Amino acid sequence: MRALAEVRDDPLTDGDVVLRRPLPADAALVHRGTHDPLVREFLQAVIPHRDLAAAERWLTEIPPMLWETGRAAYFTVEEAGGAVGWAELVNLDAEEDSAEMTVWLLPEHRRLRTAKSAMRLVCRFGFERLGLRRIDAFAAADNMPSQVTGAAIGFRRAGYRPALFRSSRTQRLHDAVYATLVPEDLC
Ligand SMILES: CC(C)(COP(=O)(O)OP(=O)(O)OC[C@H]1O[C@@H](n2cnc3c(N)ncnc32)[C@H](O)[C@@H]1OP(=O)(O)O)[C@@H](O)C(=O)NCCC(=O)NCCS
Repeated sequence: MRALAEVRDDPLTDGDVVLRRPLPADAALVHRGTHDPLVREFLQAVIPHRDLAAAERWLTEIPPMLWETGRAAYFTVEEAGGAVGWAELVNLDAEEDSAEMTVWLLPEHRRLRTAKSAMRLVCRFGFERLGLRRIDAFAAADNMPSQVTGAAIGFRRAGYRPALFRSSRTQRLHDAVYATLVPEDLC
């Protein structure tokens, strides 16, 4: 795989949904997202930003630093009306040419097939620009929307991991379904 800092980072789009690097102006998005009950239930280590200024500071410092050091690719998911969600490639592994993908959307933008588009775009970024050979996804066993969305773009179920991660909201342990995608299967 190529180094994150050296790949093209201009926006990727399918005509409706745009995946682009986050900006400080996305503070309202990440502030709302990190307070959303489902995001906090189903993602690990989500720390709610105290206010918009804190979210703006985080956006200014952390995503560019993680990108430059090759540790994570964070993206804002945008539609015609503005920013609607977030996508990530984390655990970038140069030996396995692999990474892990996560997407969340603001509640009013769910069930509109936006997540499918966003997941497709983030996987295209991983395969086409970074040169990954595998992308993994771990969804809580009781997070059906996440599993269905992954399966709809070609992820295949590859395992079950009991008590894999802790809810950011309740600290409860979730069992996880492990799914994986190779470039040939992306649809
Ligand atoms: C998971 C999430 C990103 C899915 O987003 P979404 O916009 O609802 O998904 P889409 O509209 O693209 O739907 C994709 C598929 O999943 C299905 N789906 C979506 N929500 C569903 C639900 N609540 N129940 C059953 N199926 C659902 C859709 O019908 C669609 O399948 P189809 O194309 O075969 O009809 C969104 O629910 C979310 O942000 N959840 C909170 C955060 C989260 O859990 N992120 C994932 C962490 S691993």
